[in-house]
Amino acid sequence: MPKWSLNFRLWHWINALIVLGLIGTVLLRKTFLSWRTNSEILMQKLSGIGIDITAEQAKMLAKAIRAPMWEWHIILGYALAALVLWRILLFFTPSGKQNYQNLSGETLHKKMVKLGYLVIYAALLFMTVSGLAIHFHDTIGLTKETAHDIKEVHELVNYILLYFVPLHIIGVFIAENQEEKGILSAMVNGGKQ
Ligand code: HEM
Ligand code: HEM
Repeated sequence: MPKWSLNFRLWHWINALIVLGLIGTVLLRKTFLSWRTNSEILMQKLSGIGIDITAEQAKMLAKAIRAPMWEWHIILGYALAALVLWRILLFFTPSGKQNYQNLSGETLHKKMVKLGYLVIYAALLFMTVSGLAIHFHDTIGLTKETAHDIKEVHELVNYILLYFVPLHIIGVFIAENQEEKGILSAMVNGGKQ
């Protein structure tokens, strides 16, 4: 039997793509498509050709430019919701639970790595539930203020992923080059028990 079933490997790589995509939309929103920066540019450049607009109008235009990109946050968000459900089902399979069983003989380092995975899972679950709650706040009867408060926490928990995901990728590459040769290819070809 392989260490990682095909089912689990598919989940891992699709999940990696979707999570990196979600982080990508956030980075775009905070940089190239930031309404603060772009509304300044719009005001300056339009004023240069003799059109004066107010800060409020510039903000509206900058947000309109950002909107088609941000739609991807929601589309990828739905995909993440499906992936979280998929991962819950995988916990009932050998590949899905092997990292979280018989931990007594393991080194402290291994235990910390696995705790890190559980932190990633908890963060993904929270981001999904809170993201859906913000997006559907009207439908589920939440006020705008509550949705705003949830968004603040959604944004805060985002930092957990922003730190853990690069740490995970760097960690896997270090392990592959040191004491755990084949750890990376096992997530591609399944590996051996
Ligand atoms: C793109 C670069 C990535 C590489 C090369 C990579 C590689 C790996 C490898 C080799 C493992 C198996 C580790 C082991 O045997 O214990 C693993 C596990 C895992 N990866 Fe990634 N990964 C990547 C991206 C991601 C991303 C973006 C996420 C996002 C959440 C993620 C989440 C996880 C989780 C949660 C596990 C633990 C699986 C379990 O529950 O047993 N990975 N990854
Ligand atoms: C890896 C998972 C996710 C990350 C890292 C993430 C990150 C973020 C961040 C940082 C913000 C705040 C943006 C800002 O105001 O500058 C945000 C807002 C938001 N996210 Fe997510 N998110 C994730 C998953 C989801 C999911 C699953 C959904 C559900 C569809 C979702 C829906 C939303 C919504 C509706 C907003 C509010 C947008 C607005 O006020 O214009 N997110 N997200």
